[in-house]
Amino acid sequence: MDIKQRIANKTALFAGVADEEVLGWLETPPSPDKGDIALPCFKLARSLRKAPPAIAVELAAEFAGFEGIVKAEPAGGYLNFFLDRGDEAKKTVLRVLREGMDFGSSKEGAGRNVCIDFSSINICKPFGVHHITTTVLGHSLARIFRHLGFTPVRINHLGDWGTQFGKMLVAYKKWGDREKIESAASPTRELVALYVRFHQEAENDPSLDDEARAAFRSIELHDPENWELYQWFKELTLKEAERVYKLLGVEFDSYNGEAFYEDKMPAVIKELQDKGVTTVDNGMTIVDLSAYDMPPCLILKSNGGTIYPTRDITAAIYRKNTYDFYKNLYVVAYQQNLHFRQVFKTLELMGYDWAKDCVHVNFGMISMQDMTFSTRKGNAIYLEDVLNKAIEKTKAIMQEKSPDLENADEVARQIGVGAVVWGPLYSSRIKDFTFSWDKALNFEGETAPYAQYTHARCCSVLRKAGGYDIEKADWSCLDNESCASLIKAVASLPDSVASAAEKYEPYLISRNVIEICSCFNKFYFENRIMDEDEGVKTARLALTDAARTAIKLGLYLVGIEAPERM
Ligand code: ARG
Repeated sequence: MDIKQRIANKTALFAGVADEEVLGWLETPPSPDKGDIALPCFKLARSLRKAPPAIAVELAAEFAGFEGIVKAEPAGGYLNFFLDRGDEAKKTVLRVLREGMDFGSSKEGAGRNVCIDFSSINICKPFGVHHITTTVLGHSLARIFRHLGFTPVRINHLGDWGTQFGKMLVAYKKWGDREKIESAASPTRELVALYVRFHQEAENDPSLDDEARAAFRSIELHDPENWELYQWFKELTLKEAERVYKLLGVEFDSYNGEAFYEDKMPAVIKELQDKGVTTVDNGMTIVDLSAYDMPPCLILKSNGGTIYPTRDITAAIYRKNTYDFYKNLYVVAYQQNLHFRQVFKTLELMGYDWAKDCVHVNFGMISMQDMTFSTRKGNAIYLEDVLNKAIEKTKAIMQEKSPDLENADEVARQIGVGAVVWGPLYSSRIKDFTFSWDKALNFEGETAPYAQYTHARCCSVLRKAGGYDIEKADWSCLDNESCASLIKAVASLPDSVASAAEKYEPYLISRNVIEICSCFNKFYFENRIMDEDEGVKTARLALTDAARTAIKLGLYLVGIEAPERM
């Protein structure tokens, strides 16, 4: 049993209160010289009918000789516990070494599916740098939930339906060149250029819009030629997106996007009408949400066409029927807050009590410090370009720092990618975020390269030591400040993982990783790991090993790789 729990049990028994209550009162003293755990005794004043300082003195006597505690010291109204640090260190290190990459994992989610709708790119549009947050957050959440025993269902809800595909078709038929598009390094850039041209020309020639409407209608009717072209647009976009996903190590279980729900919507629209959830307003079918202070949720346009919310309502029902999800997450920017509130409310009005299990995991905006976005002009910043640039820059830095590194290309990819994805993973997701090259590629600051570097340092220490025999460890030597802080940082990783899952906030893990890294580096500079004393050396190596595993695991859970040398 964990030491806090044991302190709580004993105190509860003594004072005649509930142990969970005592557990909640335990604090961390303001500084390490005041001990490791503090009990505010005024909480017990009522049940014991005594002044807090007197209680502290009495309780201190009770804890004399208590296992795992070297000292219980009254300090005014507080009782401060000094843990047996060597013992704490031993327990934590052995646990990490035993559990390895399963450290802090659980079976909590066994048999439960968690749908995660993330990345969800749009066909024929740039895979822009603004897609980074949804992509890396969703990827990380999938890993976190899997660690806790859940089965994540990773869904790329493609934006592959709508009148824009009619425009695309018209533009391609008028000005497109199949060979040029197919042989281009980035076919979507060619498609986007055609799309931009369509809008330019349509300004002077409104008949183009009629053509586009007719073209989309023909896609809806699966006209063989146009359907084939539409599928080809999809293939081109996805093939290019795969390159980005591969760089990032991101995978999906389903690419069912908006088009997938086309034939499933009529039944849902009928259900909405039969249940009396919708009304007709100016020829449009809507869900009146004025009672909930929201504008109406549009279901059918006046021409009978379906739209974005119609497809999301249908998709949610499909996901419930297919995966019987425990949670259904949407990792989408906060600009769509209203959309998801409307969709979830509509599901609730349809009588689906599982609407409460649908969660919009929203996040803030990303901007680039050294570049400006201008999608209007068609010069969006492509995520692939940013990643490749980061990899190039990393390669240049590495050629200077470690010119003899084997598999330098692979390591440069791991570090370059880590540097780029770190930003949105290191702050509460709702915060807006500005990307800067200097910050991202800094090996000293609170960055992914810094964590990766610390991990590689642990690996190097262990490699040079050439192994150790854990039986020989003298745990009592791990009782100084720097050891204790490192142990504490490592031991808190499971709690960080649990909180990250509960709040859908991977940054709680990233912060813990950085804490482990800075503690490790302090430990590394203040303690001679290769001590002459075998017991001391072994204990320090084992602690290094535990730190290595915890860093690697933490990085893995936020989707970042940890090379052994760099
Ligand atoms: N494709 C949409 C966009 O880029 C995001 C889709 C999010 N998922 C959803 N089920 N609506 O804005």
